[in-house]
Amino acid sequence: MKVLLQNIRKLVQTESNPVEWVAGRDMAKLPEISDAFLLINNEWIEDFGPMSEMGRINLNDDLVTEIDCKGRHVLPAWCDSHSHIVYAGSREKEFVGRIRGLSYQEIAYQGGGILNSAKLLRETPAEVLFEQASHRVQEVMKHGTGALEIKSGYGLTVEDELKMLRVIQWLRQTTPVCIRATFLGAHAVPDEYKNDVRGYVDLIINEMIPQVASEELADYIDVFCEEGYFSPEDTERILMAGMKYGLRPKIHANEMGHSGGVEVGVKYNALSVDHLEYLSDHDIELLRDSETMPTILPGASFFLGIPYAPARKLIDAGLPIALATDYNPGSSPSGNMNFVGSLAAIKQKLLPEEVINACTINGAYAMGLSDRLGSIARGKIANLIITSEITGVESLQYNFGSNLIDTLILNGEVQTI
Ligand code: NIG
Ligand code: FE
Repeated sequence: MKVLLQNIRKLVQTESNPVEWVAGRDMAKLPEISDAFLLINNEWIEDFGPMSEMGRINLNDDLVTEIDCKGRHVLPAWCDSHSHIVYAGSREKEFVGRIRGLSYQEIAYQGGGILNSAKLLRETPAEVLFEQASHRVQEVMKHGTGALEIKSGYGLTVEDELKMLRVIQWLRQTTPVCIRATFLGAHAVPDEYKNDVRGYVDLIINEMIPQVASEELADYIDVFCEEGYFSPEDTERILMAGMKYGLRPKIHANEMGHSGGVEVGVKYNALSVDHLEYLSDHDIELLRDSETMPTILPGASFFLGIPYAPARKLIDAGLPIALATDYNPGSSPSGNMNFVGSLAAIKQKLLPEEVINACTINGAYAMGLSDRLGSIARGKIANLIITSEITGVESLQYNFGSNLIDTLILNGEVQTI
């Protein structure tokens, strides 16, 4: 089966020599072809170029679906490298509490927050979790997401963490979105271990990690390295244990303060360190010498009213950044990558080209997928967005709150969104 996109106003982020990520000044570069075609062969991108060169493609007798993209842009589908979309119910009550003046931490100290979601998740059957999460996957597809990382972390018992991870695997088998799973047993200290954090860390190390690994339920391991949650020492112990089983770290760092998370992340060669609302010059130096993707989650800053991560400073220091939603019930109940892009442009002064690179190739890197997703390159998987009629990629950030994603193609197939 072949699909031929024709008369594309601009084919954006084309690559002839695919790279793993783009960093620093290169983030402002976004190669594009005007008046272009793109040919998909099964799930792969076979060829693309200017319409004037379309004569070179050989369609033989293949069944071809033709799509006229006049006036529209085509770009890689969004790669959202940080989410918690498997959760039970929602937390509107806490939202109203915050409107009345409580902080995220105050709500957590009163037994709300992550522990509130954990209580609900433990009571919710896997089938119901799957159904709720499937709706959210469908919703993020409407906004152009084609790859998604999902974390556990609302179970906080051996059995419930496994339950969450099995739901993530179930989603992986049933959705066309490319899914990566991260084990986040260290998301919060459950009530049962309130006075014994070490005991809970031991449970993660001695029971959770070996079982997660033996069922091959996770690709990565995460820790919420933050005051009141897990210390850098706890984080080190957990990461070392996970790495023995081949789980590379992707960690939550510096959301509420200077947690030491960046140091630990870089020390253990994390694939990404995420949040970074608080970041020192020393952290930036460490990141500069690393293979770790700084990942920024402006939706959480917007929703919680906390500082925005210094994304501009990171890029100006020559670093790459990825943008992701953090879709979760407590700090960012939205999986809309377009809105994330608008926030990054408006609040963090990222150029439209930088936003697109951060939402595609760099997000793909932060999920270990940049060899097959995140750009328009021959041989990569055909995960593509066709926009509605727009004048340029900046329209995507400018029209904040609008959805300019017209069509989503995943694995070479047009999706119903
Ligand atoms: O990334 N910070 C830790 N985890 C989430 C919040 C989870 C929750 O509040 O339920 C985050 O912000
Ligand atoms: Fe998160």
